[in-house]
Amino acid sequence: MFDEPLTVQLKVILLGDARVGKTSIRKSYFGDNFAQSYSLTVGADFAVKRINRGVSNIVLQIWDIAGQKDFQAVRRLYYDDLNAIVLIFSLVDPDSFDHLDNWIEEVTNEVGYETVESIPIVLVGNKLDLIKSNSDDIQIVNEKRVLKKFEEYKSKFDDRITLVRTSAKSGENVEDIFKFIIEKLEENGLF
Ligand code: GTP
Repeated sequence: MFDEPLTVQLKVILLGDARVGKTSIRKSYFGDNFAQSYSLTVGADFAVKRINRGVSNIVLQIWDIAGQKDFQAVRRLYYDDLNAIVLIFSLVDPDSFDHLDNWIEEVTNEVGYETVESIPIVLVGNKLDLIKSNSDDIQIVNEKRVLKKFEEYKSKFDDRITLVRTSAKSGENVEDIFKFIIEKLEENGLF
């Protein structure tokens, strides 16, 4: 007799300021073409990926939550039952880096401290390709500040947090975000 496959729904939310690249990262993970033009997310968008892992069928729901300030009230509707957080800033937008704590605060207010203290979190510095382009008219987030913030979060979230630098444009390292989440959730015995 074979064991019945176990189907597990996992909800991952992508958080961060407007324009940091949440929608682009989600689309890159799904192999969709990169869109240079910006169209803001209203409320939230989500996509589902099915992954087989051992005897488990994972249904990975990836929620891309609108980053614009105006959508704060709507965003709250999407935070329930989350299993992991992807906290995104743009490596070429220091303000988006300065706002990381605000995002942690917002989600903590909604789902409670205990949840945020127990789930995997991926800190993502996106738009890596722009840093590599050496353009003069970009403002790069200081690397030392990034590492300091990561250390601060590690002391709070232990080894449930990792730091990944991505380019949604080239797809570089995007897979690593979701690989980490799945590994951590498996370690936690979710499937
Ligand atoms: P909201 O929906 O307002 O919350 O924005 P968002 O975080 O979903 O950002 P979105 O993915 O819409 O990207 C914003 C802009 O940045 C778009 O013009 C994208 O083409 C661009 N962009 C996103 N990721 C990258 C990247 O890795 N590299 C480069 N060069 N541009 C990117």
